[in-house]
Amino acid sequence: MKSASKKLRPIWFDRDSETVKVIDQRLLPHEFVIVDMKTPDDVVTIIKEMYVRGAPLIGVTAAYGVYLAALHAETDEYLMRECEKLKAARPTAVNLAWAVDRVLAEVMKQKSRVEKIETALKEADNIAEFEVENCRKIGEYGLEIVREISRRKQGNTVNILTHCNAGWLACVEYGTATAPMYAAYDDGIDIHVWVDETRPLNQGARLTAWELGKYGIRHTVITDNAGGHLMQHGMVDMVIVGTDRTTCTGDVANKIGTYLKALAAKDNGVPFYVALPSSTFDWTLRDGLREIPIEERNPDEVRYVQGQVAGSRLQGAGGKLQVAQILVSPESSPAANYAFDVTPARLVTGFITERGICKATEADIKRLFPEKL
Ligand code: MRU
Repeated sequence: MKSASKKLRPIWFDRDSETVKVIDQRLLPHEFVIVDMKTPDDVVTIIKEMYVRGAPLIGVTAAYGVYLAALHAETDEYLMRECEKLKAARPTAVNLAWAVDRVLAEVMKQKSRVEKIETALKEADNIAEFEVENCRKIGEYGLEIVREISRRKQGNTVNILTHCNAGWLACVEYGTATAPMYAAYDDGIDIHVWVDETRPLNQGARLTAWELGKYGIRHTVITDNAGGHLMQHGMVDMVIVGTDRTTCTGDVANKIGTYLKALAAKDNGVPFYVALPSSTFDWTLRDGLREIPIEERNPDEVRYVQGQVAGSRLQGAGGKLQVAQILVSPESSPAANYAFDVTPARLVTGFITERGICKATEADIKRLFPEKL
């Protein structure tokens, strides 16, 4: 499984069973389980409950959801209703609505039911490949930045800090924030990654650490609050994160805690990069703080942590694996679970996109994507 997902993907269409298959990311890294999606309702559940997560993957999953809706659709009204349900599954990642609308637009150009089904599947496949290619190019452009830092440090280790999981598990291949890391590693650059654990669901500690470890990239899991301390002591050369929605003015919504990393980076002169494909820009929004919807999830995700019971062994290692939910707070204490925050454009050093690198300003984003603005 050593791969930035050259073989294994977090989602694929299985032609024999006509089902869409996904890796259940809720269970990683302790259990590796593949789940079938057969109906649009399955897709809504799988996105809501975060079997799959990460903005580009949410988009691709929803695109296959439109295919499953087309497969079950007796009427266009049904299809459109299901698309609305898909778009409402999670609020922050703009890739979700972008992908559903893109597939639906192609489907509605077709007349017969068979053509609609075939078109939906083809367009979902196209979106998956589009995101693979976007992430590959993000890796190429991001590599230049890492190379430059490595040169400046005369070949000494480049320490990169990342938050949450913006890896291939969150995309289809390569990842966004991780693509430059994989590219730098492949290029022989000495890198080490500080992985924020990313409470409450620990996407960093569970998923990013798993991905990087499988690839052989040196990494260290840190508590979410450690980044500022590391930056103050010169132990972080750059930050790269992903995003769920970025405005055309450069405000960035990403996993809760990203903003605090950006503040610490600014205070310590550490470059703070956001890697994203064009599908994650919301070209209609200008004020991220006021306009980007921030998901609030079940407080129990904060009150409980999930993990492998100490002493229980991994499957395949002969012992019995036990994964448990542990209550951390007092039984009666309420909790709040804001899933994302917004980092204002002024704190962002630059965007790494499939068309190159730009500043977090409307004018420079427009330079790369003139047809969108
Ligand atoms: O709640 P999640 O796990 O879906 O949040 C994911 C993130 O915040 C990622 O950083 C973002 O989607 C970018 S993925 C390339």
